[in-house]
Amino acid sequence: MLNIRIEKNTAPKAKPTGKLGFGKIFTDHMFLMNYSTEKGWHDARIVPYGDISLDPSAMVFHYAQELFEGMKAYRTAEGKIQLFRPDKNIERMNNTCDRLCVPQINPDDALQAIKALVAVEKDWVPTEDGTSLYIRPFIIATDPMLGVHPSHTYLFIIILSPVGAYYEAGLKPVKIYVEREYVRCVKGGTGLAKAGGNYAASLKGQEKAEKMGYAQVLWLDGIERKYIDEVGAMNVFFVIDGKVITPDLTDGNILPGVTRRSCIEVLKHLGIPVEERKLSIDEVIEAHKNGKLNEVFGTGTAAVISPVGELFDDGNKMIINNNEIGPVAQKLYDTLTGIQWGKIEDPFGWTVSVED
Ligand code: COI
Repeated sequence: MLNIRIEKNTAPKAKPTGKLGFGKIFTDHMFLMNYSTEKGWHDARIVPYGDISLDPSAMVFHYAQELFEGMKAYRTAEGKIQLFRPDKNIERMNNTCDRLCVPQINPDDALQAIKALVAVEKDWVPTEDGTSLYIRPFIIATDPMLGVHPSHTYLFIIILSPVGAYYEAGLKPVKIYVEREYVRCVKGGTGLAKAGGNYAASLKGQEKAEKMGYAQVLWLDGIERKYIDEVGAMNVFFVIDGKVITPDLTDGNILPGVTRRSCIEVLKHLGIPVEERKLSIDEVIEAHKNGKLNEVFGTGTAAVISPVGELFDDGNKMIINNNEIGPVAQKLYDTLTGIQWGKIEDPFGWTVSVED
């Protein structure tokens, strides 16, 4: 159990009005905790949100020893605040820690920190339909040192941001660019980890896609450039000839998304067959050619369920489901958001109240 010191912000900001967008507004407080080899994780505190001071030689600036998580707090119709499968995000955070040689955090302590910060900021959990409080825990390496090795000191920070839809278009289908030139990661790399560096590596392809009018990139595997990995900020699902297929995690180059996993579990619960397996871009092209590519959609905490209306691959523009959300994506969206916002019963026990 952490002993969390709380220093209240004496100059709280006005709460936002109007469209929230994604990740542009931050609340009045943040959680901080330090790590040193001698003391382990220590000095847990909630303090006014603001700048942090770091030595310019801090290792995070040079070798990107950084990792993060993304989760949300939801307000129910009764005004209660709940988290969605926080244990899964914390488990993934600790797996990422392991991959990046960062000391892990006791899962109970991490959950306590998240709940405590959200409780302090409860008035920041928005009430409008489709909105939530995005939770961004992250860890940075702070040793002032230019040698390449794991840091001995770290800072764990949690910040909060009231958010609406990740994409401007909301639930409207997005256009995705199939990237054949750049890759996001390779087998044996850090693709399975939620490392900031993975996202830095994705920017060049992402920028290229955006310039061409596409929302995000569909990454192919880094070795054969043949198999589908994931989309920039989401895992990806395909419905081909009535079967739901998503790339499997066995090669370690796909982020094990909590929404991805939840979708698979919801589909199984509904008796809809779902396959986790290698899926080549050629199979997708072929299915489209034969009129069997029924649906494509992305899944993620930020993006929730995001239908894909167009895949653009090497001059080949594939329009999917008439550029409309399909029945599988709609069902998953309704089920997941229904559970998250407490509108429907949660048969899985996935929601966790912040007040407990
Ligand atoms: C999330 O879905 O929470 C993510 O972390 C994706 C992020 C890159 C926006």
